[in-house]
Amino acid sequence: MLNTAVAEQSSASAPEASETAQPRSRSTPEVLRVSIVGGSGYVGGELLRLAAGHPHLEVAQLTSERLAGRFAHTVHPNHRPSPGVGAHGPLKFQSIDDLEACDVLFLCLPHGRGSSHMGRFAELADTVIDCSADFRLRCPDAHRRWYGRDVDGPWRERFVYGLPELERDRLVGARLISGVGCNATAVNLALWPLAQAGWIDRVVVEVKVGSSEGGAQASAATHHPERSGAVRSFAPVGHRHQAEIHQQLGLDDDQLFFSATAIEAVRGVLATHHVFLNREVEDKDLWRLFRRAYGREPFVRIVNEKRGLYRLPEPKILAGTNFCDIGWRLDDHGRRLVVISALDNLVKGAAGSAIQALNVTRGFAETTGLEFAGLHPC
Ligand SMILES: NC(=O)c1ccc[n+]([C@@H]2O[C@H](COP(=O)([O-])OP(=O)(O)OC[C@H]3O[C@@H](n4cnc5c(N)ncnc54)[C@H](OP(=O)(O)O)[C@@H]3O)[C@@H](O)[C@H]2O)c1
Repeated sequence: MLNTAVAEQSSASAPEASETAQPRSRSTPEVLRVSIVGGSGYVGGELLRLAAGHPHLEVAQLTSERLAGRFAHTVHPNHRPSPGVGAHGPLKFQSIDDLEACDVLFLCLPHGRGSSHMGRFAELADTVIDCSADFRLRCPDAHRRWYGRDVDGPWRERFVYGLPELERDRLVGARLISGVGCNATAVNLALWPLAQAGWIDRVVVEVKVGSSEGGAQASAATHHPERSGAVRSFAPVGHRHQAEIHQQLGLDDDQLFFSATAIEAVRGVLATHHVFLNREVEDKDLWRLFRRAYGREPFVRIVNEKRGLYRLPEPKILAGTNFCDIGWRLDDHGRRLVVISALDNLVKGAAGSAIQALNVTRGFAETTGLEFAGLHPC
């Protein structure tokens, strides 16, 4: 847990720091020192993996209060060091109290745990990327509605939503970046071209999600006998990620209906969108729309084949990658469109988008460190 002394000191200094915190340097050094707060969790582990393969990043510190003093590979076994292999040597977890100045700080804490310390975090690093939901929503009322609490006001308006495909211009040079919701990202990317075109009357979305969305902390619902083999509808209504979809696509409660189901998978989101269009369209209109939106995007692929096993998006083959795949089928009347999207919740839905946003703000090629093509078979 965050220690009280730090909590008091940080929350007391937050408003002042919000006025005064300045980047120490805006010039981008060849190699940035990054620290990961909440480094023992699943998103922290993915950031460690992606940073290790990124030529401009070096991991300086990883925090875990529970595991301080223990090696990172005790919970991230894929990071067991080996002589001559990998970009970093053995790393030990440290307490948040021992964080030192760095270039980039990734926050991978549960919602509500890091926001009151933002003053200290922003003083420690030139760039702060918060993967929690604390600063995803620009509107404080929306945050209160969906998360049931207020978050320190001075910071909210300074954060940029970290989905490069939708917010690239605002991300250039941004110091404070929020991460994205994994399910929200699958939906935002799938529907954005249609929302931009103004074609959506209503949309009913069902997302099927893997267990890693719940994080590394065990609970009754994740206990193996309870979780294994389950197909569990856990949010038929009221899922918080709707707020990010409202914000990014401009859809309201009367247009967007969202439900979520836990399935037997570790990683992955499959989002099925039943879109009721406000006009008749043909398949060629959809090709034109999606190609125009994503034809030049490195991490959004149109997967919309007539035949073959992989004719529509499938999360399994995206595990570990930063891709979001999108396909569709139009019904015979041309008014109901089913758009299907898939991604890895821990990568495009969290750590990968965070690294992509960092690449944008720091002026690195956007694909740097993110070119893993995935595994097949897996
Ligand atoms: N999982 C996903 O698919 C996903 C996708 C997008 C965004 N996110 C967001 O990313 C964040 C991290 O998610 P995750 O899945 O990586 O969670 P996680 O696996 O549960 O990891 C949480 C991390 O936070 C630390 N932590 C928990 N409570 C703390 C406290 N009171 N004080 C200090 N440290 C504390 C834990 O450290 P200890 O070792 O000390 O317990 C751990 O390192 C969350 O806000 C989540 O909503 C997750």
